[in-house]
Amino acid sequence: MTVRVPAKVNVQLSVGPLREDGYHDLVNVFHAVSIFDEVVAKESDSITVQVDGKWSDQVPVDDSNLAIRAARALAKHAGRTYGADLVIQKDIPVAGGMAGGSADAAGALVACNELWGLGLPIEDLMEIAGDLGSDVPFSLIGGTAVGTGRGEQLSELPTGGTFHWVFALANGGLSTASVYAECDRLRQAAGAEVPWPQLNDSLMEALGTGDAYALGRNLSNDLQAAALNLRPELAPTLDAGGQHGALGAIVSGSGPTCAFLAIDATHARDLAQSLTATGAAHTAVAAHGPVQGAVLV
Ligand code: C5P
Repeated sequence: MTVRVPAKVNVQLSVGPLREDGYHDLVNVFHAVSIFDEVVAKESDSITVQVDGKWSDQVPVDDSNLAIRAARALAKHAGRTYGADLVIQKDIPVAGGMAGGSADAAGALVACNELWGLGLPIEDLMEIAGDLGSDVPFSLIGGTAVGTGRGEQLSELPTGGTFHWVFALANGGLSTASVYAECDRLRQAAGAEVPWPQLNDSLMEALGTGDAYALGRNLSNDLQAAALNLRPELAPTLDAGGQHGALGAIVSGSGPTCAFLAIDATHARDLAQSLTATGAAHTAVAAHGPVQGAVLV
């Protein structure tokens, strides 16, 4: 069984006050983009994982691997002992703010559901996904969706067209937990009350009408200041996007990947080339969204 799963960028990431359980309530507008991991599940007596591809040396293959945890959680839900050898072909940056680990978990859920002949509906997979991580449910459905709660309670959003993006990949990842912690620290130091997160109506309209210019103006990420504090070298990368005509530039999720919205596919290719040629990014990848979530191929 082979499943293809997309990366995501957050076009709005509004972070509410710190909750008692250590999480934050969010208004998190996810958008799935055409950078994919592939998860293959083969029959086996036990659950194992092997990681191939670009970033394979950065992914743990022990029990902390999110795809292994996903397969185990699915077997537990089904109430039986099942095995699967999982092979992940990685293209999504690791700890890059693009939900690469979540994509692999979603891929493992869909692949093992099929391999083991469980036939569980998407609703059941979504529930298991939410327990694995805040972004895993979105990796299952893809498209564009607003996540509330920890980000796991999703409503799909209609989009009026395809958006073209460039992603500047950074050397080394950022831990999501440390970026949220830095966000809390900055907020505490500023001493201002943290408002309850609200969905941006202008952003909704831009997504609905497919207006890339309006979407570019309305991109927002409450984690950006924290990610920039932890990685000051990202600031000139973001600035370079504007110099090369990006309609918007933002840190993707908890970073350190930077996302640039382009006018069209040609502009995205040119922008990617300019960012690498000028040294603003060492690697830049053009992609489009929205794309569908985890699918059997
Ligand atoms: O849910 P997930 O395991 O992906 O979250 C990783 C970390 O990110 C959490 O341990 C928490 O520190 C932070 N987080 C948060 N609020 C959210 C989602 C994640 O504080 N809504």
